[in-house]
This record gives sequence, structure tokens and C-alpha cells, in this order.
Amino acid sequence: MSTFAALWDSLLPIGRDPATGGYRRFCWTPAELECRAWFETTAAERQLRVAADGNGNLFAWWDVSNGGPAVATGSHLDSVPDGGAFDGPLGVISAFAAIDELRAAGFQPARPIVVAAFAEEEGGRFGVACLGSRLLTGAIDPDSARGLRDGAGITFADAMLAAGHDPAQLGPDDDLLGQLATYVELHVEQGRALAGLDAAVGLAEGIWPHGRWRLDFTGRADHAGTAKLADRADPMLPYAATVLAARQAATELGTLATIGKVLAEPGAANAVSSAVSAWLDVRAAGPGPLDATLDQVLTAARAAAESQQVAFEWKSESVTPAVSFDAELRGRLAAALAGQRIAAPVLPTGAGHDAGILAARLPTAMLFVRNPTGVSHSPAEHAEPADCAAGVTALAAVLRELAG
Ligand code: GLV
Ligand code: MN
Ligand code: MN
Repeated sequence: MSTFAALWDSLLPIGRDPATGGYRRFCWTPAELECRAWFETTAAERQLRVAADGNGNLFAWWDVSNGGPAVATGSHLDSVPDGGAFDGPLGVISAFAAIDELRAAGFQPARPIVVAAFAEEEGGRFGVACLGSRLLTGAIDPDSARGLRDGAGITFADAMLAAGHDPAQLGPDDDLLGQLATYVELHVEQGRALAGLDAAVGLAEGIWPHGRWRLDFTGRADHAGTAKLADRADPMLPYAATVLAARQAATELGTLATIGKVLAEPGAANAVSSAVSAWLDVRAAGPGPLDATLDQVLTAARAAAESQQVAFEWKSESVTPAVSFDAELRGRLAAALAGQRIAAPVLPTGAGHDAGILAARLPTAMLFVRNPTGVSHSPAEHAEPADCAAGVTALAAVLRELAG
């Protein structure tokens, strides 16, 4: 019998907001530390050796003597604000459940298998997506990571230190990367292609280029009941124009552009804001339309700010180029799945993943599990238990192929 359901139930309550039903598992907060403790307990119950790297990424090793580099699998345990239960945890839980299935079948790996949980994948607290895997691979400078601040002004370094991890250890780890032969991340699909194709699992072809930019509009606070319209420098107006410009640019260029986070200062209902900060997320099938979308939105924001005597500044927080997953590895996975009579369609995605960052250093691949509505980054995110079970079976077949 699969251990998936018990694993799922044991993680499910951690960090769930009772009012929304969404998850708030932000890096180094008590909820996320509880997830880390869950990971360690789950690994210990399976006699897997847990080792954190210097970047706060967790690894649970099924060691094999003289086995050569390992097959890594897993995902992440942190969430976006009010995220769903599946994005990240499905990959980690399925990894443990797949190991259980392999052991129950008497499988002895010829090389180590390691379950990973990467830190701050969502960038939900410190703004940079896939921070743990970027640090591991050297895709971000450790000094700039140490200095990243959350909404309360706490640095990544201080948050990490408070959680008992030494921020001086942040940075690339070639020794660890050298111990990994491949990384296969199982993830809930964040779209509904598989539902349309009548398939429980799919394989990732690649990840669209994408990025996040912070936009700051600075005006002047004033009294809502007395300041004449003509006298105002209201940053809310160019901000609002920018939201519409983002939608228009995405529509015209066939891309995706979203402003999902906004802060108005000082936040009084009866005052013109002094400043508005907004975060723009853009995703596109290629770098050309990505850049064009960004340019069009920034041009509109600049013009709207100027027309309202509002200052405008912007900076990129994380930008990720297009990723094509390793075709040979994907072929091996497809063949292993076909051997189990699992037809796995190959899909592109606009969602970012640690597998995309790690692809710069080792062959990586992804398995998607059908999401009937496609909704993700939302408490409504869902996958049916039968499809989750199919995902575990598929992952077990893949691990058997790669580690056998
Ligand atoms: C991660 O889920 C992202 O695509 O933002
Ligand atoms: Mn996500
Ligand atoms: Mn994810």
C-alpha cells in the first residue's frame, strides 16, 4: 500500500491559514521551520541521512557504497502567500513515497537517491525566486542574497541566522553538485493541458523565460478632503495606468504580465499616497516578446508617472532565461514510463522551478501531475488522489531507471 496518503496528511496542516485555507510557509518562518522538521523526521523514519547544504537546502540521502553520483529528486516546501497544498510539497512527498514503493518492491539502487527540498523557491519572503538553487549553482552572488530584505526589513542573512544556519556558508557548492548526476522534479501541473490530453502525468519540455521587476512610484502625501486634484502628485494614478498597460502589452504581444503585489504608503484611506510599490511579473515563450512586454510596460509607467509629477524607478528582482530540459534524459524518462504503460505528453511551462536553475549544471527533467482546473498559487489548487498515485508510480519508475 502506498505511503503517499499518510505523508500527505502529516504535512497538510503545517502553515495553513484557517481563514483562507491557503499556505503561508515563508522561508525561515516558524511554519517553514516546521516543514523542515517534518522533512527531517520523514527522512529519519526511512533511515535516510539528512544533510543541509550551506544555502539552507535540505537533502535526504539513500546512501549506497561506491555508487557514483546520485539521482536527485524532490522540490520545495515553501509557498507563495496563500498558496495551494501541492506546489512544491507534491514533489517532496512523492519522492519519499516513491522510495517507499521501490523498497517495498525490493529494489536496491546501484547509485544513491537523494530527496531535496530547496529553500525559498517561490521568493515569497525575500523576492528572488529559486534562491536556494540559485545560491547552490552560483547563479546569484551570496553577498546580494545575504542582503535581501523581507517586507519587515529583515535580511535573509539575519533570518537564516535566527533559524540556526550560518549565512557565511552561503554560496556555490561544486562538491555537492558533483555528487548529483541528475535531478528529476515532480510537480503539480500549473495549467490544464494534461486534463485536455486525458493524461495523469506529463514530462516538461522547457520553461519560458520570465522575471520579476519592482516598480516604485513616489509622489506626495496629501489630504483626501482638501488637496485640489490639480495640486496632487498621486502615485496611485501611474500605478493604476501601469496595471492596465501590463494587461494591454501582454494581450498585444501574446505574453503574460501580472501585477499581483502592491504596497501603498502610508496606507491611509483619507490621504493621497506618498508612494506606491508594485511588482511586475512577465513570462513569454521567448526572450524577444519578454523584453518587448517589459519595455512596453516600463514606457507606459514612465509616461504616466511624468504626467502626474510622480517619480518612477524600477529594478529587476529575478530574471530567469529560457530553459530546455535535457532531451536525452527526457527520452530515458519517456521510455521508462512507456515501459509501465504510462503515456506522458511533453509540455512547456511558464512556471519557474529549481529544476530550471539546476539545468545549468546537470541534466534535469520534470514530471507534471494533472491539475484538473489548472489553478495554482491559490488555495483552489488541486490534483486528484488517483493522479497523485500515478505520479508516485511514474517517479518510482524513473528512479528505478536512473538509479538501477
Ligand atoms: C514559481 O512557482 C513561479 O513560477 O513563480
Ligand atoms: Mn509556485
Ligand atoms: Mn513549485
